[in-house]
Amino acid sequence: MSKKTVLLIVGSFRKNSFNQIIADYIAKELKKDVNVEFLDYRNVPLLEQDTEFPAPQSVKDVRDQVGKADAVWVVSPEYNGSYPAVLKNLLDWLSRPLVAFDRETPTVITGKPVTVSSIAGSTAGKFLRQNLSTLFSYIRMNPMEGTGTGLIIPAEAWRTGILNLTDEHKEALKKQVKEFLEFIK
Ligand SMILES: Cc1cc2nc3c(=O)[nH]c(=O)nc-3n(C[C@H](O)[C@H](O)[C@H](O)COP(=O)(O)O)c2cc1C
Repeated sequence: MSKKTVLLIVGSFRKNSFNQIIADYIAKELKKDVNVEFLDYRNVPLLEQDTEFPAPQSVKDVRDQVGKADAVWVVSPEYNGSYPAVLKNLLDWLSRPLVAFDRETPTVITGKPVTVSSIAGSTAGKFLRQNLSTLFSYIRMNPMEGTGTGLIIPAEAWRTGILNLTDEHKEALKKQVKEFLEFIK
């Protein structure tokens, strides 16, 4: 049987993003068992209903990649106790029908298995993870039980701008990889 594909979606476009670093580590671990892709959604415009149908090419492209993936893993910073706007905008596009007013046909994310990880300040992205888990259910994805993995940005990383993952970080992410692989089996 061919390997499953897990699509990683990172909620930060920042150069040296700490969340990109943990996404890279998750990808390295996942690759032992499944195919891994990253979603590039920088070109997706702000959703505006007047220009929703037909969808812009950049939206068609991300929908195609998401639709083909067996599962999605979101890795994101917490912005003001919730999700970054770029990520919410992407999820809004993905949640919409493919044909105007067609509410019957599934969207590209209906029933899609999903989980979340975050590295953030002292709350370990607790509010981002809670809000995102609620959103996943609202848009009819299939979230893994719980609210994912939250890591805390070490003081040294705040100081230097460089994140070195600790053994504790790696263990927590490896545990989630194992659980997610079991979930999507
Ligand atoms: C607009 C904004 C809001 C933020 N709000 C939070 C927050 O609510 N909780 C938190 O832990 N960190 C917050 N931060 C700090 C981020 O966790 C930190 O900048 C982190 O490095 C961003 O992730 P990245 O390195 O992957 O880009 C915020 C940062 C920005 C730019």
